[in-house]
Amino acid sequence: MSPLFVPGPVDVDEEVLEAQTKAMMPHRSGEFEEIFHRSEGKMRKIFRTDHRVLINASSGTGMHEAAIRNLVNKKVLSCANGAFGMRWHDVAKSNGKDVTLLDTDWKEPLTGEKIAQALDGQDYEAITIVHNETSTGLMNPIEEIARVVHGVSPNTLICVDAVSSLSGAQLEMDEWGLDLVLTSSQKCLALPPGLGFVAFNERVFEKSKTVKNKGWYFDFERLEKHRLKDSTPATSAVSLIYALDLQTDRILAEGIEQRWARHSAMAEKTQIWAKENDFTLFAPEGYRSQTVTAIEHQGFDFKAANAFLITKGIRMASGYGPLKENVFRIGHMGELTPADLDKLFAALAEFRSN
Ligand SMILES: Cc1ncc(COP(=O)(O)O)c(C=O)c1O
Repeated sequence: MSPLFVPGPVDVDEEVLEAQTKAMMPHRSGEFEEIFHRSEGKMRKIFRTDHRVLINASSGTGMHEAAIRNLVNKKVLSCANGAFGMRWHDVAKSNGKDVTLLDTDWKEPLTGEKIAQALDGQDYEAITIVHNETSTGLMNPIEEIARVVHGVSPNTLICVDAVSSLSGAQLEMDEWGLDLVLTSSQKCLALPPGLGFVAFNERVFEKSKTVKNKGWYFDFERLEKHRLKDSTPATSAVSLIYALDLQTDRILAEGIEQRWARHSAMAEKTQIWAKENDFTLFAPEGYRSQTVTAIEHQGFDFKAANAFLITKGIRMASGYGPLKENVFRIGHMGELTPADLDKLFAALAEFRSN
């Protein structure tokens, strides 16, 4: 495996890639339904929920759209301190919803206090928030935020984007009282891109029954009806489900807590490397991501460094959106280990000594 230190799509284990080459089977067959059923059961463990997980051919942005279309008749609070929080806001806006944006400096977390102020006296049907902002390497304190929302505005549904954190950082859907959590396949789950996942509780399901014009493809009522028969309304991504079945076994064999700990160890190692090399970390202490580190790079030729790494089969990522020129990102998610980071840091030392 030539390590990709990018925040998705990440390297996929050979065996998992191979699983996709098995012969097709009809998605409406007992054999496929069995695979689908057990994969969903394993995804519940990864989402830390006893509620359902819908699995659909989509990327994460499709799941942003699904949440908005199913849960919001009118009013939604979109919280954003990075490019993907803004993406979810834009999705809500482009679906014609009455969206209020709660934004903050991208170097600051969205705290319970800020969100409580925004919710005060309002009647939002849902709030949207990103757990791990992949654009800035900042993790928002979701447990604290959920506690505050439940206290201040108990009817507001809490919708969390865990696209770059699920299985790489602790997120307790049921214990923290999150109503809806979404993710996609190509990040910490270390699968090829193409699957979207959304887990939600009964409050969400009941609400979705009251919302009009949900469209067809992402309608939770239709998806749930088919999930109960271990399938999807439209053709399932059969090969990706084969890969999911195997990869969820591998994830659970490692252990969820152990997987979080491995990601945390990689984050710590990357932060130490950055400081030792006189770089500035973009995200503030206490809120740094376990899965991707964003680093400011004045005086360091990131493009030349990455070009050098590519000759060794290694790759990092540039900054995202407005941070493209000033920041670079080291993804440490999926199947990577601290030993892989040693290879990256050794190659970067070689680049700097040239
Ligand atoms: C936090 C976050 N949310 C949403 C998305 C969008 O996901 P996708 O590219 O799977 O549509 C990304 C993609 O990088 C992301 O990092």
